[in-house]
This record gives sequence, C-alpha cells and structure tokens, in this order.
Amino acid sequence: MSIPMRFIIPLFVVLLVWMEGAPCASADGDPPLPTSVAAPPVYQHAVVAADHPLASQAGVEILQQGGNVVDAAVATAFALAVVRPASCGLGGGGFMLIWDARKKKAVAIDYREQAPLQATENMFVDPSDRTRAREEASRYGGLAIAVPAHVAGLCLALREFGTLELPAVIAPALRLCREGFVVDPHDREVQREILDEFRQHPEFQRRFATLHRLYLNGGKPWPPEAKFQSPLREVLEKVTAEGASGFYQGPVAQALVTEIQRQGGRMTLEDLAAVRPKLREPLSDSLEEWQLLTMPPPSSGGVALLQTLRLYAAFEPGPGRRDPRGLLLNSPGSLHLLAESFQHAFADRAEFLGDADFADVPVKRLLGAPHLAAMASRIDRTQAQPQETYGRFRTPDDGGTSHFSIIDAAGNAVACTETINTAFGSLVVEPQFGVLLNNEMDDFTAHPDLPNAFGLRQSAANAIAPLKRPLSSMTPTILVRDGQAQFALGASGGPRIITATTQVLLHLTRDRMTPAAAVSAPRIHHQWFPHRLELERGFDQELARDLSVFGHIVRWADDSAVVQAVSRGPDGLRGASDRRKHGRAAGY
Ligand code: DON
Repeated sequence: MSIPMRFIIPLFVVLLVWMEGAPCASADGDPPLPTSVAAPPVYQHAVVAADHPLASQAGVEILQQGGNVVDAAVATAFALAVVRPASCGLGGGGFMLIWDARKKKAVAIDYREQAPLQATENMFVDPSDRTRAREEASRYGGLAIAVPAHVAGLCLALREFGTLELPAVIAPALRLCREGFVVDPHDREVQREILDEFRQHPEFQRRFATLHRLYLNGGKPWPPEAKFQSPLREVLEKVTAEGASGFYQGPVAQALVTEIQRQGGRMTLEDLAAVRPKLREPLSDSLEEWQLLTMPPPSSGGVALLQTLRLYAAFEPGPGRRDPRGLLLNSPGSLHLLAESFQHAFADRAEFLGDADFADVPVKRLLGAPHLAAMASRIDRTQAQPQETYGRFRTPDDGGTSHFSIIDAAGNAVACTETINTAFGSLVVEPQFGVLLNNEMDDFTAHPDLPNAFGLRQSAANAIAPLKRPLSSMTPTILVRDGQAQFALGASGGPRIITATTQVLLHLTRDRMTPAAAVSAPRIHHQWFPHRLELERGFDQELARDLSVFGHIVRWADDSAVVQAVSRGPDGLRGASDRRKHGRAAGY
C-alpha cells in the first residue's frame, strides 16, 4: 500500500523545520517537496542557489576558477537559459541586483524587455468591441513579444562588474547544450501543462510547431531518464564570439524578426539594435540591523516589499519587534496583518506603478511616512475590510520565471530574477537558432478593464508605449550588515513573488530561520484583486478557520512562488533552492 503524498509531505516539512531548529508549522496538504532530509551543507567560500542544480553548479564552477559573484551570475543565467527554457533565457529579460562588499556599493541592472517601437496603447483592445481584448493576443504569438534584453543585460553585467571574458562564462551553458541533461520532474510538469494548452487550442500544433518539436519532445511525454538536447548551441557560440551583437545584429537578429513578424508581431531590426539595458539605483531602507536593497521601477516588487514591511512593522510589538505569537508560529493575528499589508501594497501597485522612465511613479510618496500612516489607519487588527477599502481601483503560475541568489565569503552578493513571463512565453520559437521568445507584453495594462495572466489589473501608468518597459513583480533583494551582504533572495511566481519574498525575508531576519527552513515554510498570498486570502497547503485547517473569523475569504492554493535564498553567517554560507521547483543549491 502506498502512502499518499499529502501525508508524506507534511511529515517532511515538520521534520525539516525541526532539523533546522525552527518551530514548525503543521501541514495537511499535498504539493511539492522532498528529495532528501539531510541537513543542507554549509560552505566556506561561496554558494549559488538557482532553481536547477546544473545552473547552481555552473555558477560554482566559475567561482572556483577565480571568477567573482557577477561572473558566476552571468554563467548561471546562461546555464539557466539551457536547463530551464520554459522559465527564462535569451528571448526574455530580467533584473540583477549586485552588492560589491569592497566598494560598499549596490547597483541594479535593468534588462527588462521593452515594447517595440510600433507598439500602441490599444494594440490588444478588440477594435470591433472595445470592451473586449483581442483574443489572447497579449499571451500567445508575435504581438505578445516584447524586445528581449537578456543577452545585452548579461553582457553589460560582465563588462561592468565581472572579471572574466564571455567565453569562460558561457562555457558551462555550451557544455550543457553539447552533452544534454536529464529531464527533471519540473520539466515533466511544465510539458504536461503546456500540452494541455495545446489540446485546448488545436491550432497551436501548427502555429507553434517549432516549440512542439524543439522543446516539447514532439508532444510525447518525456520517458524516464530522457535527456533534453537544447537547440541553443549555435546562438550561444555566436554570442561567445561576437558578444551582444551576435544576437542583436546579423543572422540571429534577422531570423528573430522574420519569425516574429510571420507570427503577427511588429518587432523590427531597429528594435533589436536599440536594446540598451540600464543601470539603476536600488531602493534602500533600513530594517533592524540590516540595509535592505531591492528593485526600483519598472519593478513594483521593491515598492510593494518595502510598503508591506513598514506597514506590518507598525503593528508589531516593539521594541525589537519579536512577537512570540508572530509569523514564525504563523499565528492568525500575524498573518491577518500581513494579508492586510499585502492588500494595501497591491492596491497601490494597481494604481500608481509603471515604468518610471515614462509614467510619473510617486515612489517617494508611496514609501513616505504620511502615506503609510494613512494606510495603517485603515487596517483593523481584528477584521478584514471590503475590497474597495484598500484602493480606488477595481482589479482581477510559476512558469516563465527563474530566480537565483549568490553570496561569497567576502560578503559580495547577486540576486537575479529573469523571465519570459508565462511558461514558454509567447510559445514562439525562432526555428533556425531555437530562441524561445517572451510574452512580456501581457505585463502591461493590455486592456484597461481586463486582468492580465496573473489576475492583476493595472493603471494608465503601465499603459503600452513604444520602448516602455512593462511593470514587473520581480523582487531581487539583498540585505547588507556592516558593509557585507548577509542575505540574498528573490522568487519566481508572478505577483506571488512579492508576497513570498516578503515572508521568506521575515523568516530570515525576524524569525532567524536558516534559508532552508525559511524557504520551506508554507506561505500566504493576497493580491487584493481577486479578493481572497490564499493559504498554501502546509498550514492547518484551524488556521484557515481562524483567518476566516477575521473576515478573510480563505482559499487553499496549489500555486506558490519559488524562492531561492542564500545566507552568510559566522559559521559559513548556506543556500536554499525551493523544492517546489526541484532546485538545489551548490557551493564550495
Ligand atoms: O515580471 C513579472 O512580474 C512577470 N513577468 C513574472 C512572471 C512569473 O514570475 C511567472 N511565473 N513564474
């Protein structure tokens, strides 16, 4: 007789959290988890936590060759393009946050995709009925594709902040292309989900035939121990030899534009030639003994993270703010306050956030004391509020994103989140070089009255405009103490990135959990619209009942974000890759 997963997993969570020396949450549901119950290793030199073991290993290989954390980050990102093609890669973009412990300086690299020059504000509104969106055009096919900036961003990171040359850092990715690698449970799950979408849309088989052939095993479920052979070898060789221009000019650029236009898109060679990632100043705040660094717009993640932490802190008992009934024990009162803080932060996201190069995003005001005090005055410790209380707006799964975190013994760190948006992005694959293209246009306010793929509604601040970057939830975050990074973290999972990063950050800082315990702990999610409080399976029924007494509409959720976190402590370096996506950290 086999024991159902829903019994094994709670047992594992309890055991793991107990082993990590942290109080445990009981669990009564299914999903992810376990591979091993061995205590995670502690490293002395550096640790890389990516959402695929081979990508973590690629970063470590570069560090062992004498590369710095940025060299390792670039190597990890190129390796992820090969081993997690549904989540990120050359056809996408990302944000990389870097802490340099010697210079005591932080920088954020914004290599988010941009709208093509021929994009227009209403390109996804149905011209025959303006209350409707053009049939899934912002999700699938050529129009959904924003101009990719991944390769340019990584080349910029390496040139400005790395020490090695492109051939060295692309070598692990090229090796993975040549040798292939064994398909893992996450790949099987994503293949199953995408093939379901193909069944629901019979025309996809013809429309997205290249994806089907090159990335989905021709529609046949991956057999046990199957190896995936990435088609990216030639394009990676071109980038190795020519740098970013090997991608944005010449035959690769021409092939990309031809395929995107064939699929109905408006991208041109001029768009590709104009890609310029930007260096931005991270948002910074103090949190107890740490300096907290996180992503500014065009991410909404940093603003929402800081708003939530400040709001939540306003209600915690001082001084020291260690509430014995706090989040660590997942008390209903504490989770209620967190959910209320999330709702206010998401209401502001919906109304004010967008690319600050285009829209007037009042970051200072949103993080200022008067605004937060006004928000806090609308929070009732005992009662959730009607939806309209949180904002003036009426608004609406881990797939296309990957986060990794790196830290070394000297206190340098990288937190990097990359995305092609939903799993396999637009589903468009350029057939000659195999580059899979994003559907990041769906992160814009594609239709003013309709939600995007993640149920988010957004304002005119995030309306489409040529060259504008779509608003993101990606929240790469680093915590620095005495000039040295102590934690780096972030997540994939759409809006759940913000709520998961916040909770893992609280577990690391306030609850003093190890990364493994912090990442494993079950999480809540509230994004204001839809108006429900999601509890990850892993919490118990009693908590759900208690939270509904506060007036929350509680739903059990199977989806959760995927967090990768690393820490530097007196006894060494730790890393945790979320078992929800079968990642594994590596170090030395
Ligand atoms: O930038 C964003 O917020 C989205 N493109 C992220 C999408 C995501 O995390 C998908 N799931 N893993």
